[in-house]
Amino acid sequence: MEPLASNRVTLLTLIFLLFLFIQPSLSIYCDEDDCYNLLGVTQSANASEIKKAYYMLSLKRHPDENPDPESKKFFVKIANAYEILKDEATREQYDYAIAHPEEVFYNTAQYYHAYYGHKTDTRAVLVGLFLILSGFQYLNQWTRYNQAIEMVKKTPAYKNKLKAKEFERTGGVTNKNKGNKQMNKYDLPYIFL
Ligand SMILES: *[C@@H]1O[C@H](CO)[C@@H](O)[C@H](O)[C@H]1NC(C)=O
Repeated sequence: MEPLASNRVTLLTLIFLLFLFIQPSLSIYCDEDDCYNLLGVTQSANASEIKKAYYMLSLKRHPDENPDPESKKFFVKIANAYEILKDEATREQYDYAIAHPEEVFYNTAQYYHAYYGHKTDTRAVLVGLFLILSGFQYLNQWTRYNQAIEMVKKTPAYKNKLKAKEFERTGGVTNKNKGNKQMNKYDLPYIFL
């Protein structure tokens, strides 16, 4: 019972950590927006239409022309949407994520695979993975340590020690113990012979 319960706690902790590290899938592409909507194209638009739409929008909404912060935000958004849609592989992934929103884990994994593949230094990813794995390892060992402690507590030796401590604390029995010790002194040589 005890080890099973601990395993379940560890598993739940791992899942919780995964959710901390990984955002739900669809929102990772263009946040709450639809990447196609942002560029003002339909999902069936071809590559040159997407490119054209992006260039028109980025000219019109360039922060140099429109100094207000909203324009800057929008410019960043359309640049991000174009990053996703201009690449055939990431566009396919995005289309798949739209069509299968229930496959959260698969879509998220695909997104991060593409994302780390393109934009991030591989070494940083490895360090991140190492840290996450170390965290899991630590959790695992912590659970095992607690399990070991629980098992030791159940052994007769530990229980006897507890009883002995209890006797010492309550007193009254100390005389009996002394008597036992005295006897042991005489007994020992014979035992070892
Ligand atoms: C993309 O679509 C536009 C408009 O329908 C068309 O004129 C153009 O030839 C297409 N480009 C390609 C590469 O298919």
